[in-house]
Amino acid sequence: MNTKITEKISWVGFIDWDIRDFHGYETRRGATYNSYLVRDEKVAVIDSVKRPFAEKLLENITELVPPEKVDYVVCNHAEFDHASSIPVLMERLPNAVLVCNAKCQKTLSSYFDTSTWRWKIVGNGETLSLGGTTLKFLLTPMVHWPESMMTYVPEEKLLFSMDAFGQHLASSERFDDELPLGEIMEEAETYYANIVMPYGPQVLQTLEAAKTLDIRMFCTSHGVIWRKNLSVILEAYTRWASRKVEPKVLILLDTMWDSTHRMADAIYSGVLDVPGVSAKILNVRRTSLTDIATESLEAACCAMGSSTLNGLPMPMMSAAMTYLQGLRAPIKYALSFGSYGWGRGATEEISAWFEKAKWTPACEAVKCMYLPDADVLAKCREAGRVLAEKAKECGE
Ligand code: FEO
Repeated sequence: MNTKITEKISWVGFIDWDIRDFHGYETRRGATYNSYLVRDEKVAVIDSVKRPFAEKLLENITELVPPEKVDYVVCNHAEFDHASSIPVLMERLPNAVLVCNAKCQKTLSSYFDTSTWRWKIVGNGETLSLGGTTLKFLLTPMVHWPESMMTYVPEEKLLFSMDAFGQHLASSERFDDELPLGEIMEEAETYYANIVMPYGPQVLQTLEAAKTLDIRMFCTSHGVIWRKNLSVILEAYTRWASRKVEPKVLILLDTMWDSTHRMADAIYSGVLDVPGVSAKILNVRRTSLTDIATESLEAACCAMGSSTLNGLPMPMMSAAMTYLQGLRAPIKYALSFGSYGWGRGATEEISAWFEKAKWTPACEAVKCMYLPDADVLAKCREAGRVLAEKAKECGE
């Protein structure tokens, strides 16, 4: 199965309807691995698919050209969802030369036996002519791996944008004007939060470079191709990469016997005392890490609370902390809260962790022994108000 993108360019990728876990990222709508075939005097395959689907990719390519007619396989990114079928392509496309940058060559050679491959190593701005079609390579390090690269086709005004602007979204439709924009943006936001969020400065650099190009289509490596709403996704990426936040307080909690939950409810009431600030309570044992990351993308503040279990936060709270720290969630101010029994630990651990996450405590932590009494709940409500005022300042 293939889809015509332009006269000379076809989509030859794979739609993964089944996948629900992409290295821990919950892909509730499945995924696609977008590979493209460019046919001119010379023929190039742009990126591959996950290894189990290599035969499908070959089938899609050979529906359009005989295998011996493929001159180049371009690898824009060495991560396995795009590169793990490349060894199969290099074996079965007998005349293909692998085109990539030097870092990518090193990475591919660490993963695979590349001893029989023929290479063309390209640098930033270098071009490769396929006849009437030019491939121009743009190095985009850390968007989101060191060897990440994009490929621009000036004659078509088309950018193979790799993971950037992608969405994990399986669909029979290939273009952004064929599905509801809200659904696409929901998945684009989830994708950005869970994959791209740590690399805001590098994304901004890439966006600056992209501004110098005339682009009418972003051919992403995942999800739909952008041909109508390019300004919408560009504006969203600019906002997310700039780490701009909304007047929103995220309340993350895990609770053993409901005490910490009651405290969270009181904090929530305090936040809502401040007009113009929104709040959301997420129980980390009932919410996927994927959704927690997405909710953190534009939240100015976070209240993080856990019961103490064996001197530490509850395990899923520790998982959320680890995940958000790695993703460098742009939360500005935070509050630690929670209940304990005979021994303390969770609230202290969370407060100490704020330094690692670079979140500034908005006020003193609120903790209670066993059950929160009226005094503790009043402190929680006041802490919620303080946090909301900070969220308002940051989100304005
Ligand atoms: Fe879709 Fe970074 O791979």
